[in-house]
Amino acid sequence: MMESPQHFLQLKDISSEELDYVFERTRRIKERFKTYERYWPLQDRTLVMIFEKASTRTRLSFEAGMHQLGGTAIYLNTRDSQLGRGESIEDAAEVISRMSDIVMIRTYEQDVIERFSSHSRVPVINGLTNEYHPCQILADIFTYMEHRGSIKGRTVAWIGDSNNVCNTWLQAAEVFGFNVHVSTPPGYEVEAERAGLYGTDHFEQFADPMDAAREADLVTTDVWTSMGFEAENEERRRDFADWQVDAEMMRAARPDAVFMHCLPAHRGEEVAAEVIDGPQSVVWDEAENRLHTQKALMEYLLLGRLND
Ligand code: CP
Ligand code: NVA
Repeated sequence: MMESPQHFLQLKDISSEELDYVFERTRRIKERFKTYERYWPLQDRTLVMIFEKASTRTRLSFEAGMHQLGGTAIYLNTRDSQLGRGESIEDAAEVISRMSDIVMIRTYEQDVIERFSSHSRVPVINGLTNEYHPCQILADIFTYMEHRGSIKGRTVAWIGDSNNVCNTWLQAAEVFGFNVHVSTPPGYEVEAERAGLYGTDHFEQFADPMDAAREADLVTTDVWTSMGFEAENEERRRDFADWQVDAEMMRAARPDAVFMHCLPAHRGEEVAAEVIDGPQSVVWDEAENRLHTQKALMEYLLLGRLND
């Protein structure tokens, strides 16, 4: 019997202790990258990336990251593979996982990635689903730690849609022990079950976004309309009009609060230009850290714990 591989399908799939290790490795891997030190622990390993939705950062960070670790990355999309022509996800998983060492998938329903992983011989990483975006929050927490130290006990304000990124912040709050203050327009509130939460101890919902932002250590938001929900665009523009992170909202947060956004951003919608381009914004570090955290994640899923 083959041992079943460890997957990363949602943030709570790994323990806080394992995540601490991944962050320690991220620091080491980032340092090596910055000093041009060759580091090829994944030589001869192949990553397959399956994209059913668009991407800039996720594709680039996984593809560049795998090359930098000495391996190869192959890009597949629904349009030019048999996945778009009705081959079952289970059959695709059987075949793809016999020809590769690790798989990353960006798709619609979480169920697709769950089914793929249950037929995969190799680790599967969630590169975004309608429900979760765990790789994003790895990078976000690492970025917070770089700028402000441990996130334990801190308050994160989430302003806007209770989407995949929000759900993952909520799971992270349970794993790391911090609080999330969420403010969404009526009708878009957090659904604890869909977010995969154990309870409601780590988050609080606020009708007024200013109240959610008050005294926060980190203020964050995301697009009003996520990929796959484009038909609701006009309605959402109206419903979310008062959920913009602007300078006044940042003033309600702690003076040393940072602003994050997973990107891509829409200035003038979910965030004012003066905030995302302002002194509290760490969005470029956040985007860069996708590369370093995911390299550490792939190293961990494929090689386990290392000491070098
Ligand atoms: N933040 C993020 O996942 O960006 P992409 O959609 O460009 O991959
Ligand atoms: N919530 C956004 C995140 C994009 C990285 C989406 O799903 O489209």
